[in-house]
Amino acid sequence: MKRIKIFDTTLRDGEQSPGCSMNLKEKIEMARQLERMKVDVIEAGFAISSPGDFASVKAIAEAVKDCTVASLARAAVKDIDRAWEAVKGAADPRIHLFIATSPLHMEHKLQMTPDQVYETAVAMTARAVGYCSNVEFSAEDATRSNWKFLARVIEGVIAAGATTINLPDTVGYTTPDEHYEFFMRIRERAPSLEKVTISSHCHDDLGLAVANSLAAVKAGATQVECTVNGIGERAGNAAMEEIVMALYTRRELFQAETGVLTGEIMRSSAMLTNITGVKVQPNKAVVGENAFAHEAGIHQHGVMKHRGTYEIMTPESVGLNKNNLVLGKHSGKHAFRERLASLGYSLSEEDLGAAFERFKTLADKKKTVYDKDIEALVAKEKVQIPRTYALNSFVINSGNKITSTAVIDLVRDQRSTERVSRGEGPIDAAFKAIEKIVGRQLALEDYQIGSVTEGEDALGDAKVKIKNSDGETFSGRGLSTDVIEASILAYINAVNKMLHVEKEGLREGKIDASWNKILHK
Ligand code: KIV
Ligand code: ZN
Repeated sequence: MKRIKIFDTTLRDGEQSPGCSMNLKEKIEMARQLERMKVDVIEAGFAISSPGDFASVKAIAEAVKDCTVASLARAAVKDIDRAWEAVKGAADPRIHLFIATSPLHMEHKLQMTPDQVYETAVAMTARAVGYCSNVEFSAEDATRSNWKFLARVIEGVIAAGATTINLPDTVGYTTPDEHYEFFMRIRERAPSLEKVTISSHCHDDLGLAVANSLAAVKAGATQVECTVNGIGERAGNAAMEEIVMALYTRRELFQAETGVLTGEIMRSSAMLTNITGVKVQPNKAVVGENAFAHEAGIHQHGVMKHRGTYEIMTPESVGLNKNNLVLGKHSGKHAFRERLASLGYSLSEEDLGAAFERFKTLADKKKTVYDKDIEALVAKEKVQIPRTYALNSFVINSGNKITSTAVIDLVRDQRSTERVSRGEGPIDAAFKAIEKIVGRQLALEDYQIGSVTEGEDALGDAKVKIKNSDGETFSGRGLSTDVIEASILAYINAVNKMLHVEKEGLREGKIDASWNKILHK
């Protein structure tokens, strides 16, 4: 079996997509989960793009021990130097540099001749190799490049020491047959590719990113770049869980395998959803709510007789435990800790105590507490930022014939402040009262309310996104069996994140405008 490396770029290409920005703590938490899942490479960010990105690449490089940690860099001296500064503390650092090779990008974006691009690519690869033996070179927009020129660039950068060559379908333009042909022909034209790792990086503009990545594997690629839940620029990147499960389920066909622990897939997907508030569609392959649900009677009958009739992979193989009825209000801390351990979480005593308190409160209100409820509680605990404001109490008065009013009492530094506000409905009134307490004008960018599990007593799951006067967005999440309380908690969570990021000087929406223009013009 051929071993395929999984290069996860959730924290770089994925994080660039609108609504998916994460703060430092969240990124570290996500990186730890990727390490637990045993991806081969974590692309932790783009170090030069902002101080916040530099700090998170550095922190991830230092925290992760079992994966290669990469930083992206344009083929430019400053970028490469900064990338190295950020990743040099990693157990296995990688510099990932790129330059566009398609006529369109060279002429209109870079305004460089092919010869200038070639020379820059080779010189900058040599600079990166001077720092680090693990260097990846990406030919941006490779699939729309001239094959002869691309082969020349590939030969040049391999001679300069690049150890991985990535051929991105930057704009999601190619098709599986074409992509297969492309990889086969480039391998013929650039024979040095046989000495290095050949990588595929596909975007999903035509919904073909996963199919194209698999075609590349068939044509000899030994690394696939992807993101959890397929998040990424525009329509996203190839979804990690789909690639991994396709290679696992059809390993005989592909004669290939990854090192990913498939049982960690669901947890990774849920963690990303919990952090970003961006849910996957219910029918999403592998990780969607319905991916393993058999609704039609005839299907249910078939599955009961033999699972293989309608199930090509088991829910357990992706870490979905269907019999997950677990604890109740009489469960003690020991049982709670054991359950967490079996779900793969190990919390500090302090975090465990706080999570257990919340579990007890929930168990008082909810008959049955499911694994999903527990994971939601713990996910919140693990990426907790300092709680500058905490909810003390709220009173809402609302109806169809009256203007809604909210009285909110928040505690900061053990001092409580109460404010009253009117609004267009109870949520609006509550959010306005919180704004009064915080003393800031914030724009509500997004608000969603859902439930963690099914049933009348399900845990309400509220997500908000707020924007400050600098145009930066912050997401917050709140859980409660009362949806108004969940919404208030979500808003406070977002406010606390904003205050934390502002205080620490770490910006969330950090890819600077010039970078966005340069890469995805
Ligand atoms: O899509 C792309 O081309 C990229 C490169 C920078 C690798 O993300
Ligand atoms: Zn990309």
